[in-house]
Amino acid sequence: MNAFYDILIVGAGHAGAQAAIALRQKKFEGSIGLIGNEKYPPYERPPLSKEYLAGEKPFERILLRPESFWAERDIDLLTGHRVSRIDHLGKTVALTSDDEISFDKLIWATGGSPRMLDCPGSQARNIHAVRSRADVDKIMAALPKVENVVVVGGGYIGLEAAAVLTKLDKKVTVVESLDRVLSRVAGEALSRFYEAEHRNHGVTLELEATVAGFETGDDGIATAVTLTDGRMLKADMFIVGIGIIPETGPLVAAGAATGNGVDVDQHCRTSLSDIYAIGDCAAHSNPFADGAMIRLESVQNANDQAKVAALDILGEETEYNTVPWFWSNQYDLKLQTVGLSTGHDSYVVRGDPDSRSFSVIYYRDGKVVALDCVNATKDYVQGRKAVVEGLNLDKDELVNTEIPIKEVGVR
Ligand code: NAI
Repeated sequence: MNAFYDILIVGAGHAGAQAAIALRQKKFEGSIGLIGNEKYPPYERPPLSKEYLAGEKPFERILLRPESFWAERDIDLLTGHRVSRIDHLGKTVALTSDDEISFDKLIWATGGSPRMLDCPGSQARNIHAVRSRADVDKIMAALPKVENVVVVGGGYIGLEAAAVLTKLDKKVTVVESLDRVLSRVAGEALSRFYEAEHRNHGVTLELEATVAGFETGDDGIATAVTLTDGRMLKADMFIVGIGIIPETGPLVAAGAATGNGVDVDQHCRTSLSDIYAIGDCAAHSNPFADGAMIRLESVQNANDQAKVAALDILGEETEYNTVPWFWSNQYDLKLQTVGLSTGHDSYVVRGDPDSRSFSVIYYRDGKVVALDCVNATKDYVQGRKAVVEGLNLDKDELVNTEIPIKEVGVR
């Protein structure tokens, strides 16, 4: 391992890997170190709760680049290391191994760690997260002996896992603390549609249900989850998908401005000179959220912020203002989202949810702010412009599926 890198990237997920790739694409010739705390080369995370968990894609097919790519591009891949401390004035990081690495510029791309439950029994060995390859490998290894699974959290992770496990003939119950699934990311119409789909596939949904603890045996294995209303749900595997906690400890300790993640400007610079932050851990003022400081947990954001940081380091004019987009696959349903629906004041449903192809278009202050499109890629593609330009699409025309979104009038 070198003791100095011109650019040291901490975090080898989508954001960190893309930053290294972007620098080399831009012909940056200095030294690049890419530190990852997992032992694997950078890989795609979205398939973990989808095709990888389903056993449909082996690990080699979810690598972000072939294993040889990094050395060929003269990018030092330092896997299996964790940064414990940053000295921003001395421009060094300390690793938990006690090694020190100096840098000229630092890009912090550490993402987040899965939030886990903190209640009696929550340390049991058969309670799993779905965030890393190691998490999912543990689940897959245990699955052959599993019949009943309780999934805690009805967000993307919980629902995607529920869909895969149901397909693998497991009996699945989803425990969600709020009164509908996907509430963080979607409006009520979409939540109700997905709830019905999961029920139709045999999933039991427990809404407004709060976990009190786990029943465990002497062997450290949980046998049931108890809810605060006293009910007990027996299972032999438990999966927790209740969000992430941004990994920012060393930056906080170094004095970077933080709140909900590490604060960055439009160039992905933190408040500490020569230190950038990108991806899930970076809180930025987002034009599609009326300038509010938000973190976006998505591949799109990771890739786009990585490019912005790389270009800024290379002295090129750029700033982050990309429209957010997301996707989720559950059963044969492809959900594509563009924009941010948070804070919407009205919405229209275009198409019939019973046909399993429809879109929900969200408005705020008379402007389209987001679309959730279920098996409706054309709407997703054509609706993007309305979000980017904040158009007030005519709602009467919008609900008429005979009229393509690109031809809907603007009021
Ligand atoms: P999430 O924030 O999307 O959903 C968490 C869900 O858990 C929410 O519905 C919340 O109300 C519920 N919850 C919170 N505390 C709870 C508790 N104590 N008991 C029961 N329910 C509780 O987070 P999720 O699903 O864990 O995803 C983690 C990350 O992975 C996110 O960044 C997500 O965006 C990302 N991801 C994205 C995907 C995509 O874009 N398709 C797919 C999978 C994950």
